[in-house]
Formats: sequence, C-alpha cells, structure tokens
Amino acid sequence: MIDLHSHLLPGLDDGPKTLQESLFLAHSAAKEGIEIIYATPHHLRAPFDNGRDKVIEAVVQFNIHLRKAGIPLQVRAGQEIRVCPELIQEAYSGQLLPLEGTSYVLLELPSSSIPDFLEDTLHELAVLGWTPILAHPERNREIADNPELLRPLVESGALCQITSHSLTGVFGTRTELAALNICRKGLAHFIASDAHDAVKRPFQLRAAYEKVEKRLGTSWKSTYIENARKLAAGQQIDNISPIARSMSMSKLFGWMARAK
Ligand SMILES: [Fe+2]
Repeated sequence: MIDLHSHLLPGLDDGPKTLQESLFLAHSAAKEGIEIIYATPHHLRAPFDNGRDKVIEAVVQFNIHLRKAGIPLQVRAGQEIRVCPELIQEAYSGQLLPLEGTSYVLLELPSSSIPDFLEDTLHELAVLGWTPILAHPERNREIADNPELLRPLVESGALCQITSHSLTGVFGTRTELAALNICRKGLAHFIASDAHDAVKRPFQLRAAYEKVEKRLGTSWKSTYIENARKLAAGQQIDNISPIARSMSMSKLFGWMARAK
C-alpha cells in the first residue's frame, strides 16, 4: 500500500518526538503492508515551521535510519500545508514542497470553515503548476455539513484525501458519515492515514479500505488504491473519477427516460 499523508519524522511537529518513536511508527506501517509513505509534517501551522530543505534533509536521514534498522519502508518528502494568507508568498519564496516526485501539494483547511481566499490560493497554485490535494475535508465543519461545497473545487481540478480514522469511526459518527458521503458523491480521490503515533493515531489504512469496500463497493476501493499507486509513480490522477462520471451519466439517462 501507499500512504500519502503521515506525521512520521521525529521532532518536527505533533508526530513522534524521538527517533525511537518514529522508527516504531515506521515499523507498524511496514507491518500493516505500507511500502511507500509520504512524510508530511505540518507547515505554516503555528508553532510548526517545516520548510522545504528542512523536510528533505530529515527524510534523507530517516531513510538511512530505516535501512540500518532493517525496516522495509520507503519514505518520501512532503508537507501538510495550512491554507493561510501567507501561503502564496511562501510558495514564491521556495519554501513549499509538493509530494516528492509529483506536482501535488497537500493542503490543510481550518477545521471550522472554508477560508474566503481559498479559490484565489488554488488559482495561484495552478499558475505555479501545482495541483492541490485537500487533506481530510470531512473534518472541516462547513464541508461535513454540505459536501457539495467541494464540487466546484474538484471540478476546477482539486483532489480530496479522506483520512482512514474518519472512515473507521475514530472521530465520531458525524465525521464517519461525512467521509462516506464525500466518497459516495465521487468527491474523494485518496484514502490516507494521517498517522501521528502508533497507539492513538495509527494507520488503519487496511481497515478503512475494507470499510469502503463494504459500504460503497469494490470498485471505489480499487480506484483509491490505484490513485495512490499512480501518484507514487508520478502519473496524473483524474479529478473526475470514471465511477463518478458513470454515476452522473446514469443519472442523466434516468432523467431523460423519465422525461420521455
Ligand atoms: Fe496531517
């Protein structure tokens, strides 16, 4: 499996504090069946400040420690970038880091509402050639109440990542239902762990995929797994998934049949 969102590196944010804790978390990732993981420490979210060079160096060092410890996991660099007014200035100053080997940037929305400058921010990122992946939109209250708010963002090119714990119910029924709802509407593209530690915030990636398969069907599960594989292979991901497209086509045909 491939995990595109995690807090794995030691001492950079609210993930593991020590190298030992990070290695323990990496070991549990490998045990879960994860082969490639993107380390995405918080950036532009006070008090965390993890600019491009700092993360790249930490990933190089951590991969050396993994090899020494014999843990079969490949770590790639990234950031979880808070959507804030300073984001674009930061992008132009070279401090932002797309997921390694891709043009995708992982963005974190505030938990309460959608900032009114979000659209402008996404536009500026597009000018730079970057495609946004919105991390856990189901944890944003405004979107959880009305997932359709995501549709114009997805239609203009943004992708969405649902967190495994949201699907497995760790964050409560409301978040679980919101996550399933976003998936069902064809507005989600990936599932990732957002793991912070091996005990309270472990991976649960396999359990989340099983939940999707049980509640939405095997084709959705396969799409999410395939999208993560494509991302890791440096390929582009369709913002409107083939299943979502066939869903809207069948709705259209249903409407045409009823109108006859
Ligand atoms: Fe995160």
